Amino acid sequence: MPELTINGKKHSFKPGQSILQAALDQDVEVPHYCYHPGLSVVADCRICIAEVWQPNAKTGKLEPFPKLVPTCQQIAAEGMVVYTDSPKAVANQKSVMEFLLINHPVDCPVCDQAGECHLQDYSYQYGRGQSRFTEAKNKQPKKDIGPNVLLYSDRCIMCTRCVRFTREVTGTNELMVDGRGSTEQIDIFPGMALDNELSGNVVDLCPVGALLDKDFLFQQRVWFLKKTPSIDGITASGDNISVEHNDGRVYRVKPRQNDDVNKWWITDEVRYGWKFVHSDARLTLPATRSRDAFDPLKPMEAWREAVAAVDAAMSACVSVKKKHLALLVSPMLSCEDAYNLARYALSIDAEAMLAVGPVPFQGEDKTFPGGFTIRAEKAPNARGVRRVLEALAGGKPVANAQGFEQAIASGKYGAAIVTGNYPSDWVTPALAASLKSVETIVAIDTLPNAVTSMATVVLPGAAWVEKAGSFENATGRLQSFEQAIEPVEFAKSESQIALDLAAARAGRVAAGYCAASTRAEMAKLAGLECMANAVHAPEHTATVESDMVMVEL
Ligand code: SF4
Ligand code: FES
Repeated sequence: MPELTINGKKHSFKPGQSILQAALDQDVEVPHYCYHPGLSVVADCRICIAEVWQPNAKTGKLEPFPKLVPTCQQIAAEGMVVYTDSPKAVANQKSVMEFLLINHPVDCPVCDQAGECHLQDYSYQYGRGQSRFTEAKNKQPKKDIGPNVLLYSDRCIMCTRCVRFTREVTGTNELMVDGRGSTEQIDIFPGMALDNELSGNVVDLCPVGALLDKDFLFQQRVWFLKKTPSIDGITASGDNISVEHNDGRVYRVKPRQNDDVNKWWITDEVRYGWKFVHSDARLTLPATRSRDAFDPLKPMEAWREAVAAVDAAMSACVSVKKKHLALLVSPMLSCEDAYNLARYALSIDAEAMLAVGPVPFQGEDKTFPGGFTIRAEKAPNARGVRRVLEALAGGKPVANAQGFEQAIASGKYGAAIVTGNYPSDWVTPALAASLKSVETIVAIDTLPNAVTSMATVVLPGAAWVEKAGSFENATGRLQSFEQAIEPVEFAKSESQIALDLAAARAGRVAAGYCAASTRAEMAKLAGLECMANAVHAPEHTATVESDMVMVEL
């Protein structure tokens, strides 16, 4: 690999990389605003500029470039020597910072970006600390530019990342640069709105607080948020996300970079699709048809009684009524949930019917000019659930939702466990009608619907951000996700419910659900060996703390 020297240290780089890319790959910090790995290079912010020397092709002697060089644009070359900390480079950084702050309102205390703002961070690291500008600042308007995004124009540093995104990634071209010089501003074209399906990504791209998410506006200071690596739990994309939460409440979902899946982007559907997690309608306590509502002050008792009722009804169905058990596993559930629920069902009835729940579709897959694809399939794990159920069924194909409906309408089945966990109403009239022929219905779900209202027992399940597990996406990629928050009130993960039911059956204390050990157990089964070595786990990237020096006051 060729090598260059940055600030006195040798680093290797890939041929074709710019100096900035080479530096960032090696965790060498070089300030940059307009550069983004997912967009074209325009070199307009000028803060990445450095002093560069290169060996003369004939003599091999190091010679300086005649002027400072934008490292985001200059391709790295063997033997190059780069200084981002030389007096000339530092003087440029200070000048750029001073220039960018001339008209900036410096309203950090009321800005949502505070705490994750490159302008703020670079001010500390590369700025002057004092403004010499005494004239009146240009005032720019706040603009409502789309259903999800606000533009605070006077905080903008004209890096044009947002404009390039709408040109290069979505191809929708809603944004432009209007005006010249100090009155230059970002705007939408007349008669347009920033309303494409990926619009929220411009908020992530904006290095300062100019583009803000309406949904997150003034909701939390970002330094209170904890970030949990997760996977899209709404569609089949398998997009890598970060669930940002505080005090048991999700506040926002952001993309997590994965070059093999979603790169740096997510759809607005994934960004805002988690809202059902905190819906007031969430099921939070078990309920059984044969008795009054459980006392919310005694949740443990409620669970004990409901679990015992379910297990007794399941056993009676098989051993007394000589009928079979049916299990409908929602494609919204994880592989681990499918495994634990199916194992429980098979422990009661070795011939239990295992089926995959309805898989919702909306239109067709849509691919943007930048290569990002929105999946029409609106369930995260149809393939994973099917894979697990078929392995447990000895390799035989399992039914889909229609097959399940037809089979239970035959009257052969005395009890059904039906799982949901969809973000909105999912029960079709056909499913509700077919369930009428089943005596005992156990609904495990997050929101009320036609099945929960006809169920014998309702058990409140946990949304994907409330548990750990793994999903298999539309391309067959298995990815694990971590638990971000505790389940709301007294809800439990479907895996934990299955373990509770199995423990009640065996008359012992239930084991606590652990995603990793469930996967290890699953991997011993023929057809599920992939759970041992093919599940992509989130990479925990170390957070680089600010190198700001604390000054004694
Ligand atoms: S709004 Fe943000 S992303 Fe767009 S040009 Fe201004 S600073 Fe850059
Ligand atoms: S990052 Fe190089 S000029 Fe903006």
